[in-house]
Amino acid sequence: MRHTLFAIALASAAMTPVFAQSGTIGSGIAPSTMSNSQARPIGFATTTPAVGALVIPMRNATLPNGSVDAETAQAINAAIASAKYEGKEDSRLSLRGIGGYSRIVLTGTGDEGDRAANIRNAVGKAAQELMDEAQPVAIAGGLTSDEAAAAALGYALGQYRFDRYKTVDKKAPPVNPVTVVSSEAAAAENLWKSRYAALAEGVTLARDLATEPANVIYPESFVDRVRASFGNTANVRIEILDEPAMRKLGMGSLVGVGQGSPRPSRLMLVEYRGAGQGAPLAFVGKGITFDSGGVSLKPGLGMWEMKADMSAAANIMGAMLSLAKSKAPVNVIGVAALSENMPDGNAQRPGDVVRTMSGKTIEILNTDAEGRLVLADANEYVIANKKPAALVNMATLTGSIVAALNDEYAGLFSRDDRLADQLLASGKTSGEELWRMPLHKNHLEDMKSDIADIKNVVEGGGPGASLGATFIGFFVDENTPWAHLDIAGVNWADKAGPVTPKGASGWGVRLLDEFARNWK
Ligand code: BES
Ligand code: ZN
Ligand code: MN
Repeated sequence: MRHTLFAIALASAAMTPVFAQSGTIGSGIAPSTMSNSQARPIGFATTTPAVGALVIPMRNATLPNGSVDAETAQAINAAIASAKYEGKEDSRLSLRGIGGYSRIVLTGTGDEGDRAANIRNAVGKAAQELMDEAQPVAIAGGLTSDEAAAAALGYALGQYRFDRYKTVDKKAPPVNPVTVVSSEAAAAENLWKSRYAALAEGVTLARDLATEPANVIYPESFVDRVRASFGNTANVRIEILDEPAMRKLGMGSLVGVGQGSPRPSRLMLVEYRGAGQGAPLAFVGKGITFDSGGVSLKPGLGMWEMKADMSAAANIMGAMLSLAKSKAPVNVIGVAALSENMPDGNAQRPGDVVRTMSGKTIEILNTDAEGRLVLADANEYVIANKKPAALVNMATLTGSIVAALNDEYAGLFSRDDRLADQLLASGKTSGEELWRMPLHKNHLEDMKSDIADIKNVVEGGGPGASLGATFIGFFVDENTPWAHLDIAGVNWADKAGPVTPKGASGWGVRLLDEFARNWK
């Protein structure tokens, strides 16, 4: 009798899909039935509305010509004089009680550097200040079409919110539109619709994926969410490798990372061909949907942030969405190496040796250095099967890069000066900046294993970010131009930035979008 019951229990356990595609058994969270508050729609006009909230980018203390009618200008000028407002970068003056406006936000750009970028940032800050403003918003101030499109992008990025799981005191979502005013409204709208709207959509996707908790976004659900975002976008092909497929290819390094988790690993490839034949660029990202450290367990404080250890994969998919939806004339493959790094009886141990798809072997001395392990196999697969013209890795790889560069820059590692220079230039243009870091031949010497080809860490520290980059580079064929971006410091904003509310930044969507369009 007892035996029969036991057998029945076993049979039903085997039949119950514990982690179905959208299954989040036990958590009570069903993300498909919830969504974030709607974002404000963005449009363009040639004249400034007389009501609602008004944002005016200010270069200095002088109100730009033609922003508002004479009476309103007089009142604003009196306020500027009284507050001694100078329009400095990252300064704002918020006014109420002027004309028919619910409020007027003067937002400083300062007078240095790229005008459109300054306006994007100043408007991004104003959007955050207007997060709970119920009225329609207008942005005015003698903007050219480039500046107006940049203002639209700044607003779109700055208004990002993630309120999906809030049910108490949920603020009324601002659905009233944003109107950007420009004498070149038609050209601005064209720029917005043909490029920047898709860019904002890509950044939003990336931020959503990284912000979602790890009980909602794991390898299978990451794939589902990204696939749904692409819908039927033209010239896009999606390819998924599951664990049996990866095992068959000998990807012991990638599959090994996920073997301590009941949620199986995936390799997701999104191939966008906007330029017909010709070798594609490849962007290959670390997609650890949760990094507990594995058996080399991380300390508890701040461990929750490791729900965003798939940020690089998310940001690459955001860039892919932007390029594909804006029909950019480029060929690019975006790859997400997806695993969950957990400790359990089946997890790999420190000291384990794994074989990669390339045949090279790795001694795993620390299971918390897992990002490099999934990238080793993902890179090999892409190089062997897609023959990319260049390969760019992105990863939240090391705490060491955070210590070196904080959130001002991501670390750039490359053996190829031409590729490095193009990435640096795109960083400047996009506002997502890179700082080049060293790859010294001694690093590889230091990573030699006693019993395998390479070990995944050098115990006792050393130049952690460079060692991680060196490890990844060991698996990249010398003839493929290659770069690696360590984004561990920039993927999460501990405090709000100009176009990034506190939280997941989506860092790199704009950089990679810019880079792919300019790549030669
Ligand atoms: N995901 C972490 C790196 C990280 C740290 C990202 C902080 C974001 C913020 C990575 O997998 C990791 O654990 N790296 C180790 C490597 C070490 C064991 C060689 C690190 O940096 O401590
Ligand atoms: Zn990690
Ligand atoms: Mn780790």
